[in-house]
Amino acid sequence: MNKGEDRFKKIIAHCKEYGFIFPSSEIYDGLSAVYDYGQNGAELKNNIKDYWWRSMVQYHENIVGLDAAIFMHPTVWKASGHVDAFNDPLIDNKDSKKRYRADVLIEDHIAKLEEKINKEVQKAAKRFGDTFDEKMFRETNPRVQANIQKINDINVRFVPAMENGHLNDLKALIEELEIACPVSGSRNWTDVRQFNLMFSTKMGSASDGASLVYLRPETAQGIFVNYLNVQKTGRMKLPFGIAQIGKAFRNEIVARQFIFRMREFEQMEMQYFVKPGLEKEWFEYWKEERMRWHLALGIPKEMFRIHDHDKLAHYANAAVDIEFDFPFGFKEIEGIHSRTDFDLGAHQKFSGKKLQYFDPDTNESYTPYVVETSIGLDRMFLAVISCAFTEEKLEDGSERVVMNIPPALAPTKIAVLPLMKKDGLPEKGRELFDRLKYDFLCQYEDKDAIGRRYRRQDAIGTPYCITIDHQTLEDNTVTIRERDSMQQERIPAENVSKVVSARISFKPK
Ligand code: GAP
Repeated sequence: MNKGEDRFKKIIAHCKEYGFIFPSSEIYDGLSAVYDYGQNGAELKNNIKDYWWRSMVQYHENIVGLDAAIFMHPTVWKASGHVDAFNDPLIDNKDSKKRYRADVLIEDHIAKLEEKINKEVQKAAKRFGDTFDEKMFRETNPRVQANIQKINDINVRFVPAMENGHLNDLKALIEELEIACPVSGSRNWTDVRQFNLMFSTKMGSASDGASLVYLRPETAQGIFVNYLNVQKTGRMKLPFGIAQIGKAFRNEIVARQFIFRMREFEQMEMQYFVKPGLEKEWFEYWKEERMRWHLALGIPKEMFRIHDHDKLAHYANAAVDIEFDFPFGFKEIEGIHSRTDFDLGAHQKFSGKKLQYFDPDTNESYTPYVVETSIGLDRMFLAVISCAFTEEKLEDGSERVVMNIPPALAPTKIAVLPLMKKDGLPEKGRELFDRLKYDFLCQYEDKDAIGRRYRRQDAIGTPYCITIDHQTLEDNTVTIRERDSMQQERIPAENVSKVVSARISFKPK
């Protein structure tokens, strides 16, 4: 097991042990790629949502929120292209009976070649030290060049096969690259078939003529179909945005990596409607704005990278992914897409209703273009916890696991801890807790030694512990302990709320 895998396993175990995430219906052995958020997970998730909603809706006067239904008219998904094209190519191994995404098998093969290249580069960098010229090495080393050539040869066939849905070419590539099933080790594959990722169900009883409806695979369409409702009732002028947080459902073939790829998940999406011709400018704006949002949490810059799409979806004229360095490597956390007038145009065509904007400045009507920002709430959750999970060796030789969750997102903000369960300290602690609970989510704990209670709070990421001791009874001061530094200071009890509010605030100083 490599270091990343080991760390990932520990994070998953920690999430379960401390009430962040449980497998769904665990007493029935769980349900694949579906998870429940526990008492601390639900709080952290709400705080991430709140952080996103405030920065999108509250801090931008031209962005408003929406909460559309999960069920939508089935024609929505015809117009959006999901009925015909929201497919993944799947392949089965006849020996292990395991199912894979054909494109993922090929991408994994390419990733192995890339890993070989990176290993060569790292070895050479060590050997040559300060004089190492990585660019020159990559361009001239025969082994690196041979692997780059192999990757290029694969991509020349892989990219058009994916774009054009040529399933036979994907199968041929898998066979020629001698890709084996990771479980059975055999190369006994079925043909590649298309698999639509939407879940469907029936609405109404059979005698009424039940109709097929889908569980939405993205929240965006709820925004598009309400474009005119919001524009008219909110008297919105371009450019303006509509933001939404909600559940989405995809019947993922390969559901793995914990909450990274789930079958039921949540998205935080914003569609920004702009005048045609200005979409590239706004695309650049949102790319930078979204990176700023991530970095404002204090997560190191090197944990993120921008991946430009070389091949664009048919409806987009620009697209990037913001990738995060998860414990299993860099993977997409958020997509920013310039979607042109594809969606509004398609809904106009299929519904027969005009979805246009009358521009009072030019006296003309046109279909707005759209720049979309779309982030997976669960992936953001995973980014926050995987960055926060820290195993520390302390000066006294003991160890602690601390979740360095950004204080504004931490599930519990304050733990009130009377030093002892006697001499009136619990009563004093309760009094403080009862005042603070109106400002923050707090916990009160008076069982066990104070050191153990600190460790428990560290493990769930509580940024501040307030200790009540005998001096509190004399002068009404308390100690406030900061989670990461473990530094303690004495402050008047009546200042706790003010001090903590200031420290966890996102308000520009
Ligand atoms: N409306 C555009 C859209 O849905 P997407 O790239 O398919 O684009 C957007 O999804 C984001 O939703 C991704 O960046 C990812 O964070 C999240 N996401 C997508 N599929 C997911 C899944 N199966 N499990 C968890 N998050 C997912």
